[in-house]
Amino acid sequence: MASDLTVIVLAAGGGTRMKSKTAKVLHEIGGRTMVGHVLAAVRALDPTRVVAVVGHQREQVGPHIQALLPETVLAVQQEQRGTGHAVRIAVEASGTSSGTVLVANGDTPLLRGGSLRAFAAEHEAAQCAVSVLSGIVDEPFGYGRIVRNEEGDVEAIVEENDATPDQRDIPEISSGILAFDAEFLTESLPRIGNDNAKGEYYLTDTVGLARDAGLTVGAFPIDDWVQTQGANDRVQLADLGRELNRRIVEQWMRDGVTVMDPESTWIDADVRLSPDVIVLPGSQLLGATVVGEDAVIGPDTSLKDCEIGVGARVVRAHGELAVIGDGANVGPFAYLRPGTRLGPGGKIGAFVETKNARIGDGAKVPHLSYVGDAEIGEGSNIGAGTIFATYDGTSKHRTTVDKGVQGGANNTFVAPVVIGDGAMTGGGAVVRRDVPPGTLAVSGGPQRNLDRRAPRDHPEPQPVSPDEAES
Ligand code: UD1
Ligand code: CA
Repeated sequence: MASDLTVIVLAAGGGTRMKSKTAKVLHEIGGRTMVGHVLAAVRALDPTRVVAVVGHQREQVGPHIQALLPETVLAVQQEQRGTGHAVRIAVEASGTSSGTVLVANGDTPLLRGGSLRAFAAEHEAAQCAVSVLSGIVDEPFGYGRIVRNEEGDVEAIVEENDATPDQRDIPEISSGILAFDAEFLTESLPRIGNDNAKGEYYLTDTVGLARDAGLTVGAFPIDDWVQTQGANDRVQLADLGRELNRRIVEQWMRDGVTVMDPESTWIDADVRLSPDVIVLPGSQLLGATVVGEDAVIGPDTSLKDCEIGVGARVVRAHGELAVIGDGANVGPFAYLRPGTRLGPGGKIGAFVETKNARIGDGAKVPHLSYVGDAEIGEGSNIGAGTIFATYDGTSKHRTTVDKGVQGGANNTFVAPVVIGDGAMTGGGAVVRRDVPPGTLAVSGGPQRNLDRRAPRDHPEPQPVSPDEAES
């Protein structure tokens, strides 16, 4: 491919059919915005320069694009006067005058870098002034048609509204992705007129200009047409989202992941899985989640930006920004909030919520607990129904449970508090003060067993056990 490659991404359109306060290209599928997917494909080409044309909602769109691909030059198109006008602004903003220029749309999330690369290579090999990535489709309605002469050479691209009835029957259409020789593009942009049905400056008119100048025009059909499809409304967005997911899930299966029910499994584009991971039905692996070999996820689990260790099991859980160690067990019905770190071989069991908690190697929180702002040492076991009370009404405090602690059931650890190595706590203990290593902490009054048969009007219940006498 040419050593000088400019990519122009068109992202100025309004997207009225989305009926959204969010700009069209910022709508997400597969864990990235639509324009985010396009930029990922563009980045794969390693272009010399990237220009994005922004207009509608550019306060949102511009910074988003620059956050994803910082070298992008933003060109502002105040008024959407057509793709030819948009590209002219982009060329002026970038100062491009040599090499190859690729024009893509910001709303085609399934586009792959490899397809762009192959297209640019075909364009360059055929020494075209302009080339279009085309597609042969059953329903060409709405697209620019590729008009070829008897020899099969491309004569023009005719937009839907300007096409004759015969031209409307042409099944070969323009994807809107075009490649140009930069010199030809710079010369022809000022010559595009807007004398057409929409009164817009059509970039596709460059094809006719090239023909008139006796230059070569290429149209290279792409087999995988869906890569060029844009989403104009939320129905199309969901369709593309489903197709993207189908492709991602299929790729992971080919790479050695078992997915029991691909239809109910959702995997974002940036997720990384290892061979022999098993994903059970109803699971969503989102964001930058990473799962190690032999781990079993699901059923009915959603993990966003989580790291799951080798051989871990996560059953019916919801997690975000949590790290689960090798061979650890989570769930069923666990809520892993940000900052949860479970060590290798550890356990976060049924109906347990964790937040900002480091749970050591082999440590266990098996049942019905809240663990927040805490450190739990290696091998400790937290009793069923234990609550880490972190908030005193003004600020939050940390709890430290050292190694090998045996917690009783139904405890409350009132932070800040430290429970030393090898300590134990009694059932129902409310731990407000530090527990020295190796001691047993009990709290609460002694048990009183009262005589049920005492007359209702009797002022004092009668003691029936020796405990009562002590208190
Ligand atoms: C365009 C093509 C058509 C092709 C179709 C593929 C032209 C004239 N027509 O038609 O041949 O079949 O795409 O989807 O190019 N945009 C701007 N500024 C503008 C106008 C558009 O940035 O002033 C952006 C839009 O946001 C969009 C892209 O350019 O991302 C295409 O524009 P759109 O108006 O949707 O063109 P179509 O009529 O679909
Ligand atoms: Ca369009």
